[in-house]
Amino acid sequence: MAETAEHDQHKVTVEIGCGSGSRARPVPAGIGVGVDVDINALRTAVRSTAGWTFIGADGLALPLRDNSCADLRIQAVLHHLVPTATALGELARVMQPSGVLTIRDGVALDANEAAHLDDELRQAGHPSEPVYGFDLDELAELVRASGLDVEDIHMEGTATWATPPFVSKPYTSERFHLTARHP
Ligand SMILES: C[S@@+](CC[C@H](N)C(=O)[O-])C[C@H]1O[C@@H](n2cnc3c(N)ncnc32)[C@H](O)[C@@H]1O
Repeated sequence: MAETAEHDQHKVTVEIGCGSGSRARPVPAGIGVGVDVDINALRTAVRSTAGWTFIGADGLALPLRDNSCADLRIQAVLHHLVPTATALGELARVMQPSGVLTIRDGVALDANEAAHLDDELRQAGHPSEPVYGFDLDELAELVRASGLDVEDIHMEGTATWATPPFVSKPYTSERFHLTARHP
């Protein structure tokens, strides 16, 4: 029991692309670290989120040691990190041998719909997304190529890519939840 408590105390949970902290983020069992490139979002996160430390950094080059994270989470962010294979390699690098990686993101929009959304965003003066979601077979292959095993993939709700008034209609796709571990 004491050993478990000591283990939990040193457990490192890292959320990549944590944003401003508008979503409820429970205090982790050990050390919680939020990483994001948006320093303004992190300023808000620091004020509003107890029990977490925040680092301004790029998810493609994490300032974290090899094998240092027990619980790695990346929600609605992987599609920002290109190439995806590089991002997954970086996540695999920092994950402890016994760690778990959780990815939540959107399933790929239909190609025509993605092209239409891309046009609408550009015309409205908004940056387009590097990737409008993932083909799950391709993503699972990339996860395996990073050296991790895919433990589970299931669907949970929808991912929203854009909503009016900036675009003509809501653009949504299914949202997936993927967990991966070292073999
Ligand atoms: C759609 S928001 C998701 C925020 C949060 N994860 C959530 O689920 O509410 C995408 C976040 O990814 C961050 N982001 C984009 N590119 C990034 C990068 N290269 N490295 C780290 N964070 C990045 C953005 O600043 C933004 O906070």
